[in-house]
Amino acid sequence: MTEFEWWTFDDVATMAAQVAEDVGFIIERAVDANGKAELCISGGTTPAPILAALAANGDIDWSKVSITPTDERLVRADDPLSNHRSIASVLAAKGAVVNPLFDQSHDWTALEAGRSADARLAQLSWPIDLTWLGMGEDGHTASIFPSVMNAALDVPRGRRAVGVEPEPLPANAPVARVTLTKPALLDAHTLIVVITGEAKKAALERAIADGPSSTLPIGRVLADAEVPVDIYWAAE
Ligand code: 6PG
Repeated sequence: MTEFEWWTFDDVATMAAQVAEDVGFIIERAVDANGKAELCISGGTTPAPILAALAANGDIDWSKVSITPTDERLVRADDPLSNHRSIASVLAAKGAVVNPLFDQSHDWTALEAGRSADARLAQLSWPIDLTWLGMGEDGHTASIFPSVMNAALDVPRGRRAVGVEPEPLPANAPVARVTLTKPALLDAHTLIVVITGEAKKAALERAIADGPSSTLPIGRVLADAEVPVDIYWAAE
């Protein structure tokens, strides 16, 4: 059974400082041990203050750090909805390699983008050092939405990414997606989930309580984790 540890904070700023410190430690430890650190980081808005705090960490040798989004929206590279763009605008500027999940210089179908991402992900050294997940109030994580759970949970052996077309399309970014699959999201030495607000807390608590029979993607993913999961939550 998966072990969970909750780290709770009164406000986002305090949580951001703590997550940045802990992620910084994971990066430094990996660089010391292996000469490099490989991370997958969620998209959405929650990571922004944490990435800013992380970028201010003067002890990290960013040239040894490679970051891949856990999921991507089917948009061009310069679109404000691009998860790669959000991460790269902060950390590529520091010298980190931020890998797009697929070539965002032209339009793809979800199926094509998923295949391209799957091939690109094969270049990472699995298991990676850290997977950092976010979550929506509907219990989706990465771009594994309730309507496309089967496509990303029950995948052929070795499949690391798939293209998905959630139904309905998510209101905040109404486009098809590419997402890491459950096995890929879990193939990391350290797993963290970073969320804010009462609604997400209640959804995550329910997902954890329901375990493998959860109807929420986050519950189904975390139920199969083989390492303890650290959950960072701020009240907002
Ligand atoms: C995405 C995500 C997604 C995100 C949640 C939470 O690209 O949409 O990676 O899984 O983590 O939707 O988003 P917020 O942090 O914006 O609430």
